[in-house]
Amino acid sequence: MTESSPREELISLALADAARMAALHETAFPSGQAWDARQFENLLNQESVSARALSRGNDILSFVLLQIAVDEAEILTLATALSARRRGCAARLLLGLEPQLVESGVTRWLLDVAEDNAGALKFYQDNGFGIDGRRRDYYQRLEGQRVDAILMSKPMARQVAT
Ligand SMILES: CC(C)(COP(=O)(O)OP(=O)(O)OC[C@H]1O[C@@H](n2cnc3c(N)ncnc32)[C@H](O)[C@@H]1OP(=O)(O)O)[C@@H](O)C(=O)NCCC(=O)NCCS
Repeated sequence: MTESSPREELISLALADAARMAALHETAFPSGQAWDARQFENLLNQESVSARALSRGNDILSFVLLQIAVDEAEILTLATALSARRRGCAARLLLGLEPQLVESGVTRWLLDVAEDNAGALKFYQDNGFGIDGRRRDYYQRLEGQRVDAILMSKPMARQVAT
């Protein structure tokens, strides 16, 4: 008899998962840009911040840290495990969260992304996010170099009552 592999699920992550988030974040961002477990804990201690993930079994495939402010959900960070990249995980995660966010009164995704993060910019553009503007020299790299932040947003799909 063959065991079926675990299904993908949308789950909430908690303070206790800070180390797992930091470990995945470290694989997703260059040195100096990844957040450590303490930074995740500090963020998750804010009432407006929460973390959600697409998981399979015990594995986090992709996770997002969100800050909700009235009717906007700001993506503080988003990362997909290297082994799960370009298989639609991040897209399914964001899309899968929309119904519950819309239900709680959120109407718009918001984020900023570094101008030199070509893969993420392409991801957001291909998933319907539009560019609203830029913040000059917003990010500082380890070498002291400054990089603009590109501000993006996307309206959430209204849920049709059935
Ligand atoms: C951005 C990121 C979250 C996307 O996760 P993902 O699960 O691989 O994304 P999906 O599979 O849902 O979407 C893939 C699509 O995004 C775009 N994309 C993602 N990575 C890309 C890359 N390196 N180069 C070009 N396009 C890319 C493409 O449109 C791609 O579609 P394709 O494979 O058909 O070309 C992931 O690449 C990541 O963790 N990056 C490092 C962390 C980061 O930059 N986070 C975002 C800033 S907050």
